[in-house]
Amino acid sequence: MNNSVLSELKTRFQDACVKAFGEEYRNIDPNVSIAKDLRFGDYQCNAALSLSKRLKQKPQAIASQIIENLTITDLGETPTIDGPGFINVKLKSSFLASQLVAINSGDRLGIPLTSNPQRVIVDFSSPNIAKEMHVGHLRSTIIGDCIARILEFQGHRVLRLNHVGDWGTQFGMLITYLKEAYPKALTESDALDLGDLVALYRAAKKRFDEDEKFKEESRLAVVDLQSGQPEATFCWKLLCDQSRREFQKIYDVLDIEITERGESFYSPYLGSVVQDLQVLGLLEKSEGALCVFLDGFTNKEGDRMPLIIQKTDGGYNYATTDLAAIRYRIKEDQADRIIYVTDMGQSSHFEQVFQVARRAEWLTESTQVTHVPFGLVLGEDGKKLKTRSGDTVRLQELLDEAIARVKTDLETRNPEYDQTYKQEVAEAVGLGAVKYADLSQNRTSNYAFSFDKMLSLQGNTAPYMLYAYVRIRGISRKGDVDLDALATATINLNHELELALAKHLIQLAEIIDAVAEDLMPNRLCLYLFELSQKFNQFYDQCPVLQAENESDRLSRLILCHITAKTLKFGLNLLGIRVLEKM
Ligand code: ARG
Repeated sequence: MNNSVLSELKTRFQDACVKAFGEEYRNIDPNVSIAKDLRFGDYQCNAALSLSKRLKQKPQAIASQIIENLTITDLGETPTIDGPGFINVKLKSSFLASQLVAINSGDRLGIPLTSNPQRVIVDFSSPNIAKEMHVGHLRSTIIGDCIARILEFQGHRVLRLNHVGDWGTQFGMLITYLKEAYPKALTESDALDLGDLVALYRAAKKRFDEDEKFKEESRLAVVDLQSGQPEATFCWKLLCDQSRREFQKIYDVLDIEITERGESFYSPYLGSVVQDLQVLGLLEKSEGALCVFLDGFTNKEGDRMPLIIQKTDGGYNYATTDLAAIRYRIKEDQADRIIYVTDMGQSSHFEQVFQVARRAEWLTESTQVTHVPFGLVLGEDGKKLKTRSGDTVRLQELLDEAIARVKTDLETRNPEYDQTYKQEVAEAVGLGAVKYADLSQNRTSNYAFSFDKMLSLQGNTAPYMLYAYVRIRGISRKGDVDLDALATATINLNHELELALAKHLIQLAEIIDAVAEDLMPNRLCLYLFELSQKFNQFYDQCPVLQAENESDRLSRLILCHITAKTLKFGLNLLGIRVLEKM
Protein backbone atom coordinates (compact mmCIF):
# COMPACT_ATOMS: atom_id res chain seq x y z
CA MET A 1 0.00 0.00 0.00
CA ASN A 2 1.13 3.54 -0.74
CA ASN A 3 0.94 5.99 2.11
CA SER A 4 -2.58 7.13 1.29
CA VAL A 5 -5.59 5.62 -0.44
CA LEU A 6 -5.49 8.39 -3.01
CA SER A 7 -1.90 7.70 -4.01
CA GLU A 8 -2.55 3.95 -3.94
CA LEU A 9 -5.44 4.42 -6.37
CA LYS A 10 -3.23 6.57 -8.60
CA THR A 11 -0.72 3.75 -8.82
CA ARG A 12 -3.45 1.20 -9.52
CA PHE A 13 -4.94 3.31 -12.31
CA GLN A 14 -1.51 3.98 -13.77
CA ASP A 15 -0.83 0.25 -13.85
CA ALA A 16 -4.19 -0.35 -15.50
CA CYS A 17 -3.44 2.19 -18.23
CA VAL A 18 -0.07 0.58 -18.90
CA LYS A 19 -1.68 -2.85 -19.12
CA ALA A 20 -4.41 -1.58 -21.39
CA PHE A 21 -2.46 0.76 -23.66
CA GLY A 22 1.24 0.01 -23.29
CA GLU A 23 4.33 1.07 -21.39
CA GLU A 24 4.36 4.53 -23.00
CA TYR A 25 1.37 5.37 -20.81
CA ARG A 26 3.38 4.88 -17.60
CA ASN A 27 3.83 8.57 -16.92
CA ILE A 28 0.36 9.88 -17.58
CA ASP A 29 -1.49 11.55 -14.73
CA PRO A 30 -4.42 9.24 -14.05
CA ASN A 31 -6.36 12.18 -12.67
CA VAL A 32 -7.68 10.56 -9.51
CA SER A 33 -9.43 12.67 -6.90
CA ILE A 34 -11.80 12.42 -4.00
CA ALA A 35 -15.31 12.34 -5.45
CA LYS A 36 -17.27 15.54 -5.10
CA ASP A 37 -20.60 13.76 -5.11
CA LEU A 38 -20.40 10.81 -2.76
CA ARG A 39 -23.56 9.23 -4.14
CA PHE A 40 -21.65 7.73 -7.06
CA GLY A 41 -18.47 6.74 -5.32
CA ASP A 42 -15.71 7.82 -3.01
CA TYR A 43 -12.96 8.46 -5.55
CA GLN A 44 -13.06 9.33 -9.19
CA CYS A 45 -10.64 8.73 -12.05
CA ASN A 46 -10.90 11.05 -15.03
CA ALA A 47 -8.10 9.58 -17.12
CA ALA A 48 -10.39 8.38 -19.91
CA LEU A 49 -11.34 11.91 -20.93
CA SER A 50 -7.82 13.20 -21.15
CA LEU A 51 -6.62 10.11 -23.04
CA SER A 52 -9.37 10.25 -25.61
CA LYS A 53 -7.48 12.43 -28.07
CA ARG A 54 -4.25 10.53 -27.82
CA LEU A 55 -5.93 7.12 -28.19
CA LYS A 56 -8.47 8.32 -30.75
CA GLN A 57 -11.23 6.47 -28.95
CA LYS A 58 -14.39 7.44 -27.11
CA PRO A 59 -13.82 8.12 -23.40
CA GLN A 60 -16.44 5.55 -22.45
CA ALA A 61 -14.61 2.83 -24.36
CA ILE A 62 -11.30 3.85 -22.79
CA ALA A 63 -12.89 3.80 -19.35
CA SER A 64 -14.09 0.21 -19.85
CA GLN A 65 -10.63 -0.92 -20.92
CA ILE A 66 -9.09 0.73 -17.87
CA ILE A 67 -11.57 -1.00 -15.59
CA GLU A 68 -10.91 -4.38 -17.26
CA ASN A 69 -7.23 -4.02 -16.46
CA LEU A 70 -7.64 -2.60 -12.98
CA THR A 71 -6.74 -4.58 -9.86
CA ILE A 72 -9.02 -3.29 -7.17
CA THR A 73 -10.97 -6.10 -5.49
CA ASP A 74 -8.98 -5.77 -2.26
CA LEU A 75 -10.08 -2.21 -1.69
CA GLY A 76 -13.02 -1.26 -3.82
CA GLU A 77 -16.22 -2.53 -5.43
CA THR A 78 -16.24 -2.99 -9.21
CA PRO A 79 -16.00 0.56 -10.56
CA THR A 80 -18.84 2.13 -12.50
CA ILE A 81 -18.66 4.50 -15.44
CA ASP A 82 -20.60 7.67 -15.24
CA GLY A 83 -21.38 10.49 -17.65
CA PRO A 84 -18.89 10.99 -20.46
CA GLY A 85 -16.37 8.54 -18.97
CA PHE A 86 -15.71 9.20 -15.30
CA ILE A 87 -14.71 6.07 -13.40
CA ASN A 88 -16.16 5.87 -9.91
CA VAL A 89 -14.61 3.85 -7.13
CA LYS A 90 -16.49 2.91 -4.02
CA LEU A 91 -14.35 1.66 -1.15
CA LYS A 92 -15.29 -1.64 0.47
CA SER A 93 -16.28 -1.41 4.08
CA SER A 94 -13.99 -4.34 4.90
CA PHE A 95 -11.12 -2.30 3.46
CA LEU A 96 -12.13 0.78 5.42
CA ALA A 97 -12.28 -1.25 8.60
CA SER A 98 -8.80 -2.65 8.03
CA GLN A 99 -7.47 0.86 7.39
CA LEU A 100 -9.02 2.04 10.64
CA VAL A 101 -7.30 -0.74 12.52
CA ALA A 102 -4.00 0.46 11.07
CA ILE A 103 -4.79 4.03 12.11
CA ASN A 104 -5.70 2.91 15.58
CA SER A 105 -2.45 1.10 16.20
CA GLY A 106 0.84 2.93 16.61
CA ASP A 107 1.36 6.62 17.10
CA ARG A 108 1.51 7.82 13.49
CA LEU A 109 -2.13 7.19 12.67
CA GLY A 110 -1.12 4.59 10.15
CA ILE A 111 0.87 7.09 8.10
CA PRO A 112 4.34 5.82 7.19
CA LEU A 113 7.46 7.96 7.11
CA THR A 114 8.33 9.29 3.68
CA SER A 115 10.46 7.02 1.56
CA ASN A 116 12.29 10.05 0.19
CA PRO A 117 13.45 12.15 3.15
CA GLN A 118 14.70 15.56 2.08
CA ARG A 119 16.75 18.28 3.67
CA VAL A 120 14.21 21.10 3.91
CA ILE A 121 14.84 24.65 5.09
CA VAL A 122 11.89 26.65 6.30
CA ASP A 123 12.81 30.33 6.56
CA PHE A 124 10.13 31.94 8.68
CA SER A 125 9.31 34.48 11.40
CA SER A 126 12.46 36.54 10.70
CA PRO A 127 11.72 39.83 12.51
CA ASN A 128 14.15 42.73 12.47
CA ILE A 129 16.39 43.62 15.39
CA ALA A 130 15.41 46.74 17.29
CA LYS A 131 12.22 47.02 15.32
CA GLU A 132 8.78 45.89 16.29
CA MET A 133 7.95 42.26 15.64
CA HIS A 134 4.63 42.96 14.00
CA VAL A 135 1.52 41.01 13.02
CA GLY A 136 3.11 40.13 9.67
CA HIS A 137 5.89 38.35 11.54
CA LEU A 138 3.25 36.66 13.66
CA ARG A 139 1.62 35.27 10.52
CA SER A 140 4.96 34.10 9.20
CA THR A 141 5.71 32.47 12.54
CA ILE A 142 2.41 30.62 12.76
CA ILE A 143 2.30 29.48 9.14
CA GLY A 144 6.01 28.62 9.00
CA ASP A 145 5.86 26.61 12.20
CA CYS A 146 2.89 24.61 10.90
CA ILE A 147 4.62 23.86 7.60
CA ALA A 148 7.75 22.78 9.45
CA ARG A 149 5.74 20.50 11.75
CA ILE A 150 4.04 18.80 8.83
CA LEU A 151 7.27 18.19 6.94
CA GLU A 152 8.98 16.95 10.10
CA PHE A 153 6.12 14.56 10.70
CA GLN A 154 6.55 13.17 7.19
CA GLY A 155 10.14 12.38 8.08
CA HIS A 156 12.00 15.18 6.33
CA ARG A 157 15.04 16.73 7.97
CA VAL A 158 13.82 20.23 8.56
CA LEU A 159 16.03 23.17 9.41
CA ARG A 160 13.92 25.99 10.80
CA LEU A 161 15.76 29.23 10.18
CA ASN A 162 15.11 32.63 11.63
CA HIS A 163 16.56 35.04 9.06
CA VAL A 164 16.46 37.99 11.46
CA GLY A 165 17.30 41.44 10.16
CA ASP A 166 20.42 41.93 12.27
CA TRP A 167 22.63 43.68 9.75
CA GLY A 168 22.35 46.84 7.78
CA THR A 169 22.68 50.56 7.94
CA GLN A 170 20.15 51.09 10.74
CA PHE A 171 22.80 49.77 13.15
CA GLY A 172 25.02 52.79 12.60
CA MET A 173 22.34 55.01 14.02
CA LEU A 174 21.57 52.63 16.88
CA ILE A 175 25.19 52.18 17.87
CA THR A 176 25.81 55.92 17.84
CA TYR A 177 22.75 56.51 19.97
CA LEU A 178 23.68 53.75 22.38
CA LYS A 179 27.09 55.30 22.96
CA GLU A 180 25.51 58.68 23.52
CA ALA A 181 22.56 57.71 25.72
CA TYR A 182 23.98 54.70 27.56
CA PRO A 183 27.74 55.32 27.88
CA LYS A 184 27.75 52.74 30.67
CA ALA A 185 26.72 50.05 28.24
CA LEU A 186 30.25 49.97 26.92
CA THR A 187 31.94 49.37 30.25
CA GLU A 188 29.53 47.24 32.32
CA SER A 189 30.34 43.60 32.04
CA ASP A 190 26.80 42.48 32.87
CA ALA A 191 24.37 42.57 30.02
CA LEU A 192 22.54 45.82 30.32
CA ASP A 193 18.80 45.85 30.09
CA LEU A 194 18.14 48.31 27.33
CA GLY A 195 14.44 48.06 27.98
CA ASP A 196 12.17 48.83 25.14
CA LEU A 197 14.19 48.70 21.94
CA VAL A 198 11.41 50.12 19.86
CA ALA A 199 11.50 53.27 21.96
CA LEU A 200 15.28 53.29 21.64
CA TYR A 201 14.95 52.99 17.89
CA ARG A 202 12.55 55.95 17.77
CA ALA A 203 14.84 58.09 19.92
CA ALA A 204 17.82 57.20 17.76
CA LYS A 205 15.90 58.00 14.60
CA LYS A 206 14.94 61.37 16.02
CA ARG A 207 18.59 62.23 16.75
CA PHE A 208 19.54 60.97 13.31
CA ASP A 209 17.00 63.18 11.57
CA GLU A 210 17.77 66.35 13.51
CA ASP A 211 21.55 66.33 13.88
CA GLU A 212 24.03 66.31 10.98
CA LYS A 213 26.97 65.39 13.20
CA PHE A 214 25.04 62.44 14.57
CA LYS A 215 24.23 61.37 11.04
CA GLU A 216 27.88 61.44 10.02
CA GLU A 217 28.90 59.47 13.11
CA SER A 218 26.24 56.91 12.31
CA ARG A 219 27.63 56.48 8.82
CA LEU A 220 31.07 55.86 10.27
CA ALA A 221 29.64 53.43 12.82
CA VAL A 222 28.28 51.30 9.96
CA VAL A 223 31.77 51.11 8.50
CA ASP A 224 33.15 50.26 11.94
CA LEU A 225 30.64 47.49 12.39
CA GLN A 226 31.23 46.01 8.97
CA SER A 227 34.98 46.01 9.48
CA GLY A 228 34.60 44.28 12.84
CA GLN A 229 35.78 47.16 15.03
CA PRO A 230 35.44 45.84 18.63
CA GLU A 231 33.43 48.66 20.20
CA ALA A 232 30.89 48.78 17.39
CA THR A 233 30.64 45.01 17.45
CA PHE A 234 30.09 45.09 21.19
CA CYS A 235 27.24 47.60 20.89
CA TRP A 236 25.71 45.62 18.05
CA LYS A 237 25.78 42.46 20.18
CA LEU A 238 24.09 44.27 23.06
CA LEU A 239 21.29 45.37 20.77
CA CYS A 240 20.88 41.93 19.26
CA ASP A 241 20.82 40.24 22.66
CA GLN A 242 18.15 42.55 23.91
CA SER A 243 16.00 41.95 20.85
CA ARG A 244 16.58 38.24 21.07
CA ARG A 245 15.30 38.18 24.64
CA GLU A 246 12.15 40.01 23.53
CA PHE A 247 11.53 37.73 20.55
CA GLN A 248 12.15 34.66 22.66
CA LYS A 249 9.29 35.60 24.98
CA ILE A 250 6.91 35.44 22.04
CA TYR A 251 8.38 32.16 20.80
CA ASP A 252 8.05 30.65 24.27
CA VAL A 253 4.43 31.67 24.57
CA LEU A 254 3.66 30.31 21.12
CA ASP A 255 5.76 27.15 21.54
CA ILE A 256 7.95 27.87 18.54
CA GLU A 257 11.28 26.17 17.94
CA ILE A 258 13.53 28.10 15.59
CA THR A 259 17.24 28.51 15.00
CA GLU A 260 18.52 32.02 14.60
CA ARG A 261 20.71 32.55 11.59
CA GLY A 262 20.34 36.19 10.79
CA GLU A 263 21.50 38.33 7.93
CA SER A 264 24.84 38.99 9.67
CA PHE A 265 25.70 35.31 9.33
CA TYR A 266 26.02 35.75 5.59
CA SER A 267 28.00 38.99 5.68
CA PRO A 268 31.38 37.25 5.22
CA TYR A 269 30.08 35.79 1.96
CA LEU A 270 28.70 38.92 0.34
CA GLY A 271 31.96 39.85 -1.36
CA SER A 272 32.32 36.45 -2.96
CA VAL A 273 28.72 36.52 -4.16
CA VAL A 274 29.51 39.67 -6.08
CA GLN A 275 32.73 38.13 -7.37
CA ASP A 276 30.98 34.97 -8.54
CA LEU A 277 28.38 36.94 -10.41
CA GLN A 278 31.11 39.08 -11.92
CA VAL A 279 33.04 36.07 -13.17
CA LEU A 280 29.86 34.64 -14.67
CA GLY A 281 29.37 37.88 -16.56
CA LEU A 282 26.01 38.56 -14.97
CA LEU A 283 26.91 41.94 -13.47
CA GLU A 284 26.53 45.28 -15.18
CA LYS A 285 27.32 48.71 -13.84
CA SER A 286 24.36 51.03 -13.82
CA GLU A 287 24.58 54.53 -12.35
CA GLY A 288 27.53 53.43 -10.27
CA ALA A 289 25.80 50.37 -8.80
CA LEU A 290 26.50 46.76 -9.69
CA CYS A 291 23.33 45.11 -10.98
CA VAL A 292 21.94 42.04 -12.63
CA PHE A 293 19.46 42.91 -15.36
CA LEU A 294 16.47 40.65 -14.94
CA ASP A 295 14.44 38.78 -17.53
CA GLY A 296 10.73 39.37 -17.29
CA PHE A 297 10.99 42.44 -15.07
CA THR A 298 10.57 45.59 -17.10
CA ASN A 299 9.81 49.21 -16.33
CA LYS A 300 7.21 51.41 -18.02
CA GLU A 301 9.45 51.95 -21.03
CA GLY A 302 9.80 48.21 -21.47
CA ASP A 303 13.46 48.18 -20.44
CA ARG A 304 14.76 45.36 -18.28
CA MET A 305 14.93 46.22 -14.61
CA PRO A 306 18.08 45.84 -12.54
CA LEU A 307 18.46 44.01 -9.27
CA ILE A 308 21.04 46.00 -7.34
CA ILE A 309 23.71 43.74 -5.86
CA GLN A 310 26.18 46.34 -4.66
CA LYS A 311 25.30 49.96 -4.17
CA THR A 312 27.37 52.89 -5.44
CA ASP A 313 28.87 53.36 -1.97
CA GLY A 314 30.00 49.73 -1.93
CA GLY A 315 27.26 48.65 0.48
CA TYR A 316 25.22 45.49 0.07
CA ASN A 317 21.50 45.11 0.50
CA TYR A 318 18.65 42.75 1.36
CA ALA A 319 18.88 40.99 -2.03
CA THR A 320 22.65 40.46 -1.80
CA THR A 321 22.16 38.79 1.56
CA ASP A 322 19.42 36.57 0.19
CA LEU A 323 21.68 35.57 -2.68
CA ALA A 324 24.45 34.67 -0.25
CA ALA A 325 21.88 32.80 1.84
CA ILE A 326 20.45 30.76 -1.02
CA ARG A 327 23.94 29.84 -2.20
CA TYR A 328 24.96 28.82 1.32
CA ARG A 329 21.79 26.84 1.90
CA ILE A 330 22.24 24.86 -1.28
CA LYS A 331 26.01 24.36 -1.13
CA GLU A 332 26.64 24.04 2.60
CA ASP A 333 23.32 22.99 4.08
CA GLN A 334 22.64 20.76 1.06
CA ALA A 335 19.01 21.76 0.99
CA ASP A 336 16.71 19.88 -1.37
CA ARG A 337 13.87 22.25 -0.73
CA ILE A 338 13.84 25.84 0.58
CA ILE A 339 10.63 27.47 1.73
CA TYR A 340 10.37 31.20 2.49
CA VAL A 341 7.37 32.39 4.45
CA THR A 342 6.80 36.14 4.14
CA ASP A 343 4.11 38.62 3.24
CA MET A 344 3.02 38.85 -0.37
CA GLY A 345 4.78 42.19 -0.75
CA GLN A 346 8.07 40.31 -1.07
CA SER A 347 6.98 38.04 -3.94
CA SER A 348 8.93 39.84 -6.61
CA HIS A 349 11.99 40.10 -4.37
CA PHE A 350 12.08 36.30 -4.15
CA GLU A 351 11.37 35.80 -7.85
CA GLN A 352 14.32 38.05 -8.59
CA VAL A 353 16.62 36.30 -6.14
CA PHE A 354 15.59 32.90 -7.53
CA GLN A 355 16.19 34.06 -11.08
CA VAL A 356 19.69 35.32 -10.34
CA ALA A 357 20.52 32.15 -8.38
CA ARG A 358 19.33 30.06 -11.35
CA ARG A 359 21.33 32.02 -13.84
CA ALA A 360 24.39 31.66 -11.63
CA GLU A 361 23.62 27.91 -11.52
CA TRP A 362 23.73 27.80 -7.75
CA LEU A 363 20.09 26.86 -7.98
CA THR A 364 19.43 23.89 -10.25
CA GLU A 365 16.69 21.35 -10.87
CA SER A 366 17.75 19.39 -7.81
CA THR A 367 16.62 22.08 -5.39
CA GLN A 368 13.04 23.23 -5.13
CA VAL A 369 12.56 26.79 -3.90
CA THR A 370 9.21 28.23 -2.95
CA HIS A 371 8.05 31.54 -1.66
CA VAL A 372 4.99 31.04 0.55
CA PRO A 373 3.28 34.41 0.46
CA PHE A 374 0.49 35.55 2.74
CA GLY A 375 -1.85 38.53 2.86
CA LEU A 376 -2.10 41.37 5.34
CA VAL A 377 -3.55 41.24 8.81
CA LEU A 378 -6.34 43.79 8.98
CA GLY A 379 -8.45 45.20 11.77
CA GLU A 380 -12.17 44.48 11.90
CA ASP A 381 -12.71 47.73 10.01
CA GLY A 382 -10.80 46.31 7.06
CA LYS A 383 -7.94 48.75 7.60
CA LYS A 384 -4.43 48.02 8.79
CA LEU A 385 -4.49 46.60 12.31
CA LYS A 386 -3.88 49.45 14.78
CA THR A 387 -4.59 50.06 18.46
CA ARG A 388 -7.40 52.43 19.42
CA SER A 389 -4.88 55.23 19.77
CA GLY A 390 -3.55 54.51 16.30
CA ASP A 391 -0.26 52.82 17.27
CA THR A 392 0.99 49.55 15.86
CA VAL A 393 -0.33 46.64 17.84
CA ARG A 394 2.20 44.95 20.06
CA LEU A 395 2.27 41.21 19.63
CA GLN A 396 2.64 40.49 23.31
CA GLU A 397 -0.42 42.59 24.06
CA LEU A 398 -2.38 40.89 21.35
CA LEU A 399 -1.62 37.45 22.74
CA ASP A 400 -2.26 38.60 26.30
CA GLU A 401 -5.63 39.94 25.32
CA ALA A 402 -6.66 36.67 23.68
CA ILE A 403 -5.77 34.83 26.87
CA ALA A 404 -7.44 37.42 29.11
CA ARG A 405 -10.69 37.25 27.17
CA VAL A 406 -10.92 33.50 27.56
CA LYS A 407 -10.14 33.85 31.24
CA THR A 408 -12.90 36.39 31.81
CA ASP A 409 -15.30 34.09 30.05
CA LEU A 410 -14.25 31.19 32.27
CA GLU A 411 -14.69 33.33 35.43
CA THR A 412 -18.33 33.88 34.57
CA ARG A 413 -19.07 30.40 33.30
CA ASN A 414 -16.97 28.21 35.54
CA PRO A 415 -16.11 30.29 38.63
CA GLU A 416 -15.42 27.08 40.55
CA TYR A 417 -12.24 26.28 38.56
CA ASP A 418 -9.06 27.08 40.44
CA GLN A 419 -6.74 29.83 39.23
CA THR A 420 -3.95 27.70 37.79
CA TYR A 421 -6.43 25.62 35.88
CA LYS A 422 -8.21 28.69 34.52
CA GLN A 423 -4.87 30.04 33.37
CA GLU A 424 -3.99 26.78 31.66
CA VAL A 425 -7.28 26.61 29.80
CA ALA A 426 -7.15 30.29 28.91
CA GLU A 427 -3.68 29.96 27.41
CA ALA A 428 -4.51 26.87 25.40
CA VAL A 429 -7.76 28.29 24.05
CA GLY A 430 -6.58 31.89 23.60
CA LEU A 431 -3.33 31.09 21.83
CA GLY A 432 -4.92 28.23 19.93
CA ALA A 433 -7.56 30.67 18.72
CA VAL A 434 -4.99 33.15 17.41
CA LYS A 435 -3.13 30.41 15.56
CA TYR A 436 -6.20 28.68 14.22
CA ALA A 437 -7.78 31.91 12.97
CA ASP A 438 -4.68 32.55 10.92
CA LEU A 439 -4.17 29.02 9.65
CA SER A 440 -7.79 28.39 8.71
CA GLN A 441 -7.74 31.27 6.23
CA ASN A 442 -6.50 30.80 2.72
CA ARG A 443 -3.14 32.40 3.45
CA THR A 444 -3.07 34.33 0.20
CA SER A 445 -5.96 36.54 1.25
CA ASN A 446 -5.85 39.37 3.74
CA TYR A 447 -7.37 38.42 7.01
CA ALA A 448 -9.35 40.45 9.47
CA PHE A 449 -8.21 39.95 13.04
CA SER A 450 -11.26 39.63 15.25
CA PHE A 451 -11.18 38.37 18.82
CA ASP A 452 -14.95 37.86 18.78
CA LYS A 453 -14.79 35.62 15.74
CA MET A 454 -11.74 33.61 16.67
CA LEU A 455 -12.98 33.01 20.21
CA SER A 456 -16.48 32.02 19.15
CA LEU A 457 -17.65 28.56 20.06
CA GLN A 458 -19.49 28.31 16.78
CA GLY A 459 -17.97 27.70 13.39
CA ASN A 460 -14.51 26.81 12.20
CA THR A 461 -12.62 28.10 15.25
CA ALA A 462 -10.14 26.75 17.75
CA PRO A 463 -12.59 26.84 20.69
CA TYR A 464 -15.07 24.81 18.65
CA MET A 465 -12.41 22.26 17.75
CA LEU A 466 -11.02 22.07 21.27
CA TYR A 467 -14.47 21.54 22.76
CA ALA A 468 -15.24 18.91 20.14
CA TYR A 469 -12.13 17.05 21.24
CA VAL A 470 -12.97 17.29 24.94
CA ARG A 471 -16.50 16.09 24.30
CA ILE A 472 -15.39 13.01 22.39
CA ARG A 473 -12.82 12.20 25.05
CA GLY A 474 -15.62 12.44 27.58
CA ILE A 475 -17.64 9.84 25.68
CA SER A 476 -14.63 7.53 25.59
CA ARG A 477 -14.12 7.93 29.32
CA LYS A 478 -17.74 7.05 30.00
CA GLY A 479 -17.35 4.02 27.73
CA ASP A 480 -14.82 2.80 30.25
CA VAL A 481 -13.06 0.18 28.16
CA ASP A 482 -9.36 -0.34 28.19
CA LEU A 483 -7.59 0.59 25.02
CA ASP A 484 -6.13 -2.88 24.55
CA ALA A 485 -9.64 -4.23 24.16
CA LEU A 486 -10.27 -1.57 21.53
CA ALA A 487 -7.09 -2.41 19.65
CA THR A 488 -8.31 -5.91 18.90
CA ALA A 489 -12.06 -5.39 18.56
CA THR A 490 -13.62 -5.60 15.11
CA ILE A 491 -14.94 -2.45 13.52
CA ASN A 492 -18.48 -2.65 12.16
CA LEU A 493 -19.33 -0.15 9.48
CA ASN A 494 -23.00 -0.71 8.78
CA HIS A 495 -24.70 2.61 9.25
CA GLU A 496 -24.12 5.12 6.46
CA LEU A 497 -22.91 7.69 8.99
CA GLU A 498 -20.36 5.24 10.35
CA LEU A 499 -19.15 4.76 6.81
CA ALA A 500 -19.03 8.48 6.13
CA LEU A 501 -16.98 9.06 9.27
CA ALA A 502 -14.63 6.19 8.43
CA LYS A 503 -14.07 7.50 4.91
CA HIS A 504 -13.20 10.90 6.27
CA LEU A 505 -10.85 9.47 8.87
CA ILE A 506 -8.77 7.62 6.31
CA GLN A 507 -8.29 10.82 4.30
CA LEU A 508 -5.90 12.39 6.81
CA ALA A 509 -2.90 10.94 4.99
CA GLU A 510 -4.06 12.53 1.74
CA ILE A 511 -4.56 15.90 3.37
CA ILE A 512 -1.10 15.85 4.92
CA ASP A 513 0.42 15.02 1.54
CA ALA A 514 -1.51 17.86 -0.03
CA VAL A 515 -0.46 20.41 2.58
CA ALA A 516 3.17 19.31 2.30
CA GLU A 517 2.87 19.86 -1.43
CA ASP A 518 1.01 23.14 -1.79
CA LEU A 519 1.79 24.51 1.68
CA MET A 520 -1.81 25.52 2.40
CA PRO A 521 -2.50 24.79 6.09
CA ASN A 522 -6.15 25.85 5.72
CA ARG A 523 -6.80 22.50 4.06
CA LEU A 524 -5.91 20.73 7.28
CA CYS A 525 -8.14 23.07 9.30
CA LEU A 526 -11.04 22.40 6.97
CA TYR A 527 -10.42 18.67 7.16
CA LEU A 528 -10.53 18.76 10.96
CA PHE A 529 -13.61 20.94 11.01
CA GLU A 530 -15.42 18.57 8.66
CA LEU A 531 -14.26 15.67 10.75
CA SER A 532 -15.91 17.09 13.84
CA GLN A 533 -19.07 17.74 11.85
CA LYS A 534 -19.10 14.19 10.49
CA PHE A 535 -18.55 12.95 13.99
CA ASN A 536 -21.52 14.97 15.27
CA GLN A 537 -23.77 13.52 12.59
CA PHE A 538 -22.64 10.03 13.43
CA TYR A 539 -23.05 10.58 17.17
CA ASP A 540 -26.49 12.01 16.63
CA GLN A 541 -27.75 8.93 14.78
CA CYS A 542 -25.65 6.08 16.12
CA PRO A 543 -25.86 5.47 19.85
CA VAL A 544 -22.41 4.73 21.23
CA LEU A 545 -22.72 4.03 24.95
CA GLN A 546 -26.27 2.77 24.47
CA ALA A 547 -25.53 0.73 21.35
CA GLU A 548 -27.75 -2.32 20.83
CA ASN A 549 -25.02 -4.84 21.37
CA GLU A 550 -21.52 -5.03 22.82
CA SER A 551 -19.89 -5.45 19.41
CA ASP A 552 -21.40 -2.20 18.13
CA ARG A 553 -20.60 -0.42 21.38
CA LEU A 554 -16.93 -1.35 21.14
CA SER A 555 -16.80 -0.61 17.45
CA ARG A 556 -18.31 2.84 17.92
CA LEU A 557 -16.03 3.56 20.83
CA ILE A 558 -13.15 2.87 18.46
CA LEU A 559 -14.58 5.40 16.03
CA CYS A 560 -14.73 7.92 18.89
CA HIS A 561 -11.22 7.05 19.90
CA ILE A 562 -9.77 7.43 16.38
CA THR A 563 -11.67 10.66 15.83
CA ALA A 564 -10.26 12.13 19.04
CA LYS A 565 -6.78 10.91 18.18
CA THR A 566 -7.02 12.47 14.73
CA LEU A 567 -8.25 15.79 16.10
CA LYS A 568 -5.49 15.94 18.67
CA PHE A 569 -2.90 14.94 16.16
CA GLY A 570 -4.12 17.39 13.51
CA LEU A 571 -4.31 20.27 15.96
CA ASN A 572 -0.79 19.49 17.12
CA LEU A 573 0.41 19.74 13.53
CA LEU A 574 -1.13 23.20 13.51
CA GLY A 575 0.85 24.01 16.65
CA ILE A 576 -2.24 23.83 18.88
CA ARG A 577 -2.26 22.00 22.18
CA VAL A 578 -5.47 20.20 23.18
CA LEU A 579 -6.89 19.94 26.69
CA GLU A 580 -8.35 16.75 28.09
CA LYS A 581 -11.02 18.56 30.04
CA MET A 582 -12.42 22.04 29.83
N1 ARG B 1 13.32 40.40 7.94
C1 ARG B 1 12.42 40.36 6.82
C2 ARG B 1 11.18 41.22 7.12
O1 ARG B 1 10.94 41.55 8.24
C3 ARG B 1 11.96 38.96 6.48
C4 ARG B 1 13.05 38.02 6.06
C5 ARG B 1 12.52 36.87 5.27
N2 ARG B 1 13.52 35.95 4.85
C6 ARG B 1 14.42 36.16 3.88
N3 ARG B 1 15.30 35.23 3.61
N4 ARG B 1 14.44 37.27 3.19
O2 ARG B 1 10.46 41.55 6.21
